[in-house]
Formats: sequence, C-alpha cells, structure tokens
Amino acid sequence: MKDFVKEVLVSEENIEKRVRELGIQITEDYKGKDLMLVGILKGAAIFMADLARSIDIPVTMDFMAVSSYGNTTQSSGVVRIVKDLDTSIEGKDILIVEDIIDTGLTLGYLTDNLTKRGARSVRICTLLDKPERRKVNVPVDYRGFIIPDEFVVGYGIDYAEKYRNLPYISSLKEEVYS
Ligand code: PRP
Ligand code: MN
Ligand code: MG
Repeated sequence: MKDFVKEVLVSEENIEKRVRELGIQITEDYKGKDLMLVGILKGAAIFMADLARSIDIPVTMDFMAVSSYGNTTQSSGVVRIVKDLDTSIEGKDILIVEDIIDTGLTLGYLTDNLTKRGARSVRICTLLDKPERRKVNVPVDYRGFIIPDEFVVGYGIDYAEKYRNLPYISSLKEEVYS
C-alpha cells in the first residue's frame, strides 16, 4: 500500500503512544463512573478498539452509524441515524469516540441527540481534529492530534471506503484521486 501514500502524518508509534496517554487520562477521569464508549462507525472502529484496551476500568461499548444527507464530500449538517445504540443511555456517562472532527456537524448533532436521551454526561474523544474546517463549535474533551486541513486516510479513515487499514495516518498521492 506504500505506493498510494504521499506522506505519513502520524506514525504508528505516535498513535500508539498518544492512545495510551488518552487511556490513562480517561481512566483517571471516569474512576467509579458507569462509562459507555460510543464509537461512530465506520471511521472510529480501529481507534475504538485500541482506546478501549488502554482504559483500565470496566466500560461498556456500543456503536452508532450515521450518514449525512446530501452528497458525500460536503456535510449538510442533517444527520440520519443508520444504526442506533442497542440500549438506553439514561443516567450513563457517555464518551463518543470519533476518528476525526472536520466541520463538526456530525458530532454537533450526536452530542445533542445523546444528551436529549438523558445521559448523565456526554463527552467527546477524537483521534484527529482539523480545527480549520470547523463550521459548528463542538467541545472536544479528549483529542489525539491537531492536523492541518489536508485530506488524510488510515487508522480507520477512508478515501472512497479504502485505505482504512493503513496502520498510520497519511496523505494520498495525487494520482489516487484521478
Ligand atoms: C467522517 C469521520 C467523522 C465525520 C467528520 O465520517 O469519520 O465521522 O466524517 O466530519 P464532520 O466533522 O464534517 O461531520 P464519514 O461520514 O466519512 O463516514 P465513515 O466514518 O464511515 O467514513
Ligand atoms: Mn465517521
Ligand atoms: Mg468517510
């Protein structure tokens, strides 16, 4: 797959180290609480798997899948739930796990939606944050890395559904897009 990679932006080693740090911090913050990790499919699947194993308290895990109406590259802000949570989250402490925050539209909607279901708290943990692209302000509680406004793939993040299985975060060569 190296043929498709332009530049590695976050290496495997750096991801691993940062995920471990986030896990330690989350463990501290949620000691004695009923923490439920909510991973947002599909992008967050790989981060969720690693993050969960770096947390040292018993947690529950569930997943949601959402799709934004309209075309695929430009978020519209109207989000449709494609796969919902399996259980009620009333009274629970929810940590939404995302791979990347771009415009913030997905997480803006989801935080609102989960808060309205009576969760005790709703926080956000994202591996990557692209603040330059933000349209909606979302409070990021746990953040892996801030990255510039460049198209990235890997560690769960896709281009046209591919490259999620790259073990690091990278940009793609121009010829991939053409
Ligand atoms: C990507 C990414 C986030 C969202 C961020 O998901 O995984 O969920 O977009 O964009 P936003 O901040 O502008 O809302 P995508 O919709 O591509 O689905 P996927 O996770 O299945 O790839
Ligand atoms: Mn996603
Ligand atoms: Mg995607």
